[in-house]
Amino acid sequence: MALVNEHYLKLKAGYLFPEIGRRVRAFADANPTARVIRLGIGDVTQPLPPVILKAFHEAVDDLAKGETFAGYGPEQGYDWLIDTIIDKSYRPLGVNLKTSEMFISDGSKCDCANILDIFALENVVAIGDPVYPVYNDTNVMIGRTGEADERGYYKGLVYMPCTEANGFNPAFPEQKVDIIYLCFPNNPTGAVATREQLKGWVDYALKTDAVIFFDAAYEAFITDPTIPHSIYEIEGAKKCAIEFRSFSKTAGFTGVRCALTVVPEELMAHTAGGEAIQLNKLWNRRQTTKFNGVSYPVQKAAAAVYTDEGWRQTKEIIDYYMANAKIIRGGLAEAGLTVYGGVNAPYIWLKTPHGLSSWDFFDKLLTECNVVGTPGSGFGPNGEGFFRLSAFGHRENVEEAVERIKKNLK
Ligand code: MLT
Repeated sequence: MALVNEHYLKLKAGYLFPEIGRRVRAFADANPTARVIRLGIGDVTQPLPPVILKAFHEAVDDLAKGETFAGYGPEQGYDWLIDTIIDKSYRPLGVNLKTSEMFISDGSKCDCANILDIFALENVVAIGDPVYPVYNDTNVMIGRTGEADERGYYKGLVYMPCTEANGFNPAFPEQKVDIIYLCFPNNPTGAVATREQLKGWVDYALKTDAVIFFDAAYEAFITDPTIPHSIYEIEGAKKCAIEFRSFSKTAGFTGVRCALTVVPEELMAHTAGGEAIQLNKLWNRRQTTKFNGVSYPVQKAAAAVYTDEGWRQTKEIIDYYMANAKIIRGGLAEAGLTVYGGVNAPYIWLKTPHGLSSWDFFDKLLTECNVVGTPGSGFGPNGEGFFRLSAFGHRENVEEAVERIKKNLK
């Protein structure tokens, strides 16, 4: 008799976005004439920039010729892509990385989940509340937690409240923790961490011997030049942090799939007996066993993002989404809503009006405005009373959605 991993049974409902999709489909089936505008899941809508597409096509053509054909690539990613990213995206920040410290993958969501493989279950893990649900659910799946309580907090995880009062920048955990997830620019709140705040976290992690998982999937959307794009801009971070980045939102790769994880060689964790082990070696061992690398054409397309013309075209699309964010933010504020985010992040975090619950506001927006967003409570108990709108969308849809919401709330 095969036994299931019973930790999965502790998970409350379906994963947030499929659940939203299910509700929207039910609404659309019942209301076939409604023109539903989706600003829920953060999924890109603009086509790949021409330079990237050209590189992608050429790489596919390479596969048609014996002399350029590529089979298995290195599990860690091709050096030419890694070195390009280090050179074009990290060096300008004053961050020097070795080729062996970067691992190319098919997504930050997967890496944030898979990284748990190389850490003992006994580690005490701290996550934000609200938070990207993957951090919470993957810790449940792997067996680090007990059951959830009636509010949705899992026994064994340490939740760091991210509230209006603290500007959605959590305070340090009150108890000793071993692993801390940070996401800046933040999904879902759109908050960013200043250099001082990030330095605070690095100093805290070094002092308490904790490892930070730094999710920087949205770093390309930072508009304020004083905000750090990488945790390694902070002195000492290579001794305490793993960084995740993604091409998904940055370059429109949500369907193409490419991301990267940096595990510095200086970063150590310990055996129960106290022996220091390089996490880089363990991650390399994990990846070479469980992963066969990202496809050659995808890596060629990713490298093209960092050519001069590729980056100019990519940046144009990022600016397009951030102009959407400004329209949403401005329109909702005009309608009298309290709004956060949307300045250095493609997410707008709004306070639901009249004390409506997040899901009630979701239903109101869906049925009365035919606009889909994401209920804040889906990101954790402290997200209750908030709602997330994504700036990824076609301009005319974004404008129309904002007009519909404004009219409805008047
Ligand atoms: C989101 O909407 O939060 C993101 O699209 C989810 C993800 O990147 O996995």
